Amino acid sequence: MGEQRIPGIDGTGVIVTGAASGIGRGAALLAARSGASVVAGDRNDALLADLDVQAKEEGLAIRTVHLDVGSSESISAFVAAGSEAGSGLYGVVHAAAVAVERPSLDIDPAFWDDVLRINLTGTFVLAREAGRVMIARGTGGSIVNVASAAAVAGSVRLAPYTATKAGVVALGKSLAQEWGPLGIRVNTVSPGAVDTPLYHSQPTRRDTIDKLPLPRIGTPEDIALAIGFFLGDQSPWITGQNLNVNGGALMI
Ligand SMILES: NC(=O)c1ccc[n+]([C@@H]2O[C@H](COP(=O)([O-])OP(=O)(O)OC[C@H]3O[C@@H](n4cnc5c(N)ncnc54)[C@H](O)[C@@H]3O)[C@@H](O)[C@H]2O)c1
Repeated sequence: MGEQRIPGIDGTGVIVTGAASGIGRGAALLAARSGASVVAGDRNDALLADLDVQAKEEGLAIRTVHLDVGSSESISAFVAAGSEAGSGLYGVVHAAAVAVERPSLDIDPAFWDDVLRINLTGTFVLAREAGRVMIARGTGGSIVNVASAAAVAGSVRLAPYTATKAGVVALGKSLAQEWGPLGIRVNTVSPGAVDTPLYHSQPTRRDTIDKLPLPRIGTPEDIALAIGFFLGDQSPWITGQNLNVNGGALMI
């Protein structure tokens, strides 16, 4: 990513979920390199420890915190940590999600509920908790949720996942309408195929990478740059939008 930076977040507090790996990690590193004090949450403690090492090596202000976005209590503690970061909480990047393939005929209510609790309820509870802090502080804020091209396109063996991602897109629009007048912008980034453990954990190959208009797999940094566009001060009059970042796989 070289010298890429997110303008307008120097000194601010930014919280990032799913920050130990892939897209969340890319966003956490980009925000910290841009001068933000980052609180990085994830449920994978081993990968968080690895991020700690990288942050120390690079001299970045990243505090890692164990987080389960399937738990409201865990989210509250995470946002409380974020409210003390930098000059106060300004930015939220929500990248944590689960995407486990299962044929729809084999999905029982417990599996369905788990995916919804982590991917969709977690998105709402995180936004509500962070929204309360940022609105009370009164100096504005920016929430960026990560959805998926599958929110629009659908996908085989990922029915609950695609339903949660469509929900994340719609939720962002509703929150953007409610909180815009209060100084909080809410936007969504929807990746296509990105080179992360989540992508490679899925047995079904959905994209023919070499047929893309931009014929390569995406990198976490490709997505982090789009997140940064919404997070910082390059998009002051943009809210409620869903930006597809997918090498041209889906044009809508
Ligand atoms: N990689 C892709 O091709 C792709 C495509 C479309 C959308 N996405 C979305 O991008 C986001 C990031 O995924 P990624 O590809 O970087 O995957 P990843 O597996 O590299 O990272 C996801 C991180 O989320 C964490 N996580 C999962 N459940 C959690 C929970 N309950 N609480 C806290 N942390 C949790 C994992 O531990 C992991 O570190 C996800 O929302 C995913 O749906 C990815």
